[in-house]
Amino acid sequence: MKIAIMGAMREEIDPILESVGTYTAIEHAGNIFYTCSYAGHELIIAYSKIGKVFSAITASVMCERFGAQALLFSGVAGGISKELNIGDLIMASTLCQHDVDIVAFGHPYGFIPEGTLMIESDPALRSLASEVAVDMGIELYEGIIATGDQFVASSERKSWIQQTFNADALEMEGASVACVCQNFDVPFFVLRAISDTADGGASEDFDAFLKSSAAVSATFILEMVKRIGH
Ligand code: ADE
Repeated sequence: MKIAIMGAMREEIDPILESVGTYTAIEHAGNIFYTCSYAGHELIIAYSKIGKVFSAITASVMCERFGAQALLFSGVAGGISKELNIGDLIMASTLCQHDVDIVAFGHPYGFIPEGTLMIESDPALRSLASEVAVDMGIELYEGIIATGDQFVASSERKSWIQQTFNADALEMEGASVACVCQNFDVPFFVLRAISDTADGGASEDFDAFLKSSAAVSATFILEMVKRIGH
């Protein structure tokens, strides 16, 4: 099976590239895509750069040009739910864009006409992840992930996102990747390990925990790949 694995930052895919052995680098559409064989699958691995636009480009290329049959996103997030501590893993049940605002025309925050407020990730990949978590003895949270082109480092903005979308974690790429995959009809899964709690200390925590949390997420994603049917 052709499986795409993407992150937003180099640190989010480095642990994956370090584990897969040899790979080929292909330049396309302003990015580098790494292809290799792993666990009987063909992998396409890339980091997009930060944010909704770059992540949408990379996900589109993975679907359209590389023919990905499933897309797994691995990376870090800011925790909203009090249950989530730094290093904990959350998989998105559904994702939304917290920075979409067409409220002046009577739409709810996050809603784009002819789209949906929330996009659901693939149920089969989520149940596979739950099995992997049990076997690895890891706690895996499931919840709503809110995406926007903002690094959130304020309790006020964080509370607003929690209250408006009932979100458990926030980041900058998940919902745009979800939107691409929904449109290309490619099953997708978004996994994030918490790097910070999106409040006043977020930038310091992010710098301190980006690498370690990215590695937690990457290890889990590779375990999932080993168990996806061919
Ligand atoms: N990714 C990780 N932490 C984040 C934060 N606080 N805001 C946006 N994206 C993030």
